[in-house]
Amino acid sequence: MSAVRMDGKALSAKVRSSILAETEQLKQQGITPGLAVIIVGNDPASEIYVRNKEKACAECGFYSEKYALPAETSQDELLGLIDQLNHSPQISGILCQLPVPDHISEQAVINAIDPKKDVDAFHPVNVGKIMVGNFDFVPCTPAGVMELIDEYQIDPKGKECVVVGRSNIVGKPMSMLLLHRHGTVTMCHSRTQHLDEVCRRADILVAAVGKAGFITPDMVKDGAVVIDVGINRNAAGKVCGDVDPAVMEKASFMTPVPGGAGPMTITMLMKNTLKAAKLQHGLL
Ligand code: GUN
Repeated sequence: MSAVRMDGKALSAKVRSSILAETEQLKQQGITPGLAVIIVGNDPASEIYVRNKEKACAECGFYSEKYALPAETSQDELLGLIDQLNHSPQISGILCQLPVPDHISEQAVINAIDPKKDVDAFHPVNVGKIMVGNFDFVPCTPAGVMELIDEYQIDPKGKECVVVGRSNIVGKPMSMLLLHRHGTVTMCHSRTQHLDEVCRRADILVAAVGKAGFITPDMVKDGAVVIDVGINRNAAGKVCGDVDPAVMEKASFMTPVPGGAGPMTITMLMKNTLKAAKLQHGLL
């Protein structure tokens, strides 16, 4: 039996159209959600992500500003721009595309963004709020995964949830969200012993490793829900996930790559930006 494909492209279109409808209502009250996107240097993958973020803003009716800064930009200049955006009334959300060049401290950039405008939810204040379960913003990739599992009526309550990868952007917040939904969560990483055995326990397996085809069919229990957060390129340059596509034959539900978790990520950024605008105007 082949798994049900969890269609992130379709769900993304549905969520974006509901965001647009809400934006139109807000505009009647004189409020336009606004996102500022900063990119430093010219990493080709980051340029594509930033272009897609601008496109999504237009689709949702948002105001947007893009700052493409040269790679030589100093940390002080970047922090100065962030400070200006923190105080700009047109800007509800600020995102600095990561990675930044080596001479800039990523943590200094994250710390500089006003937590109320931190639509990535990377600021320590927002990270702490996620930990205690009282949060406004959720990092976009884990938020998108939760929307997908809800859409397909998958309930993590009491289930064995295994998250492979412990990044601050995906693995750690993903684990917390599953825990808040009463999953029994195991976090795995590069030092985990007997990784295959741990993965085989999973009712819900989330792969956020960054290695093409890392999760093979022998690591997956029959009927598991498999969420593939990876965006890699194989030797032929084709975009592929962390999960071997042959896992489709073992899983009950699975996200394809492309078209699964990926499209949801930017949509969740839009959702956070809308929420930021509402919070800043006392509407929530
Ligand atoms: N680089 C890769 N993913 C992300 C993300 O979600 N947000 C930001 N700001 N940079 C990224």
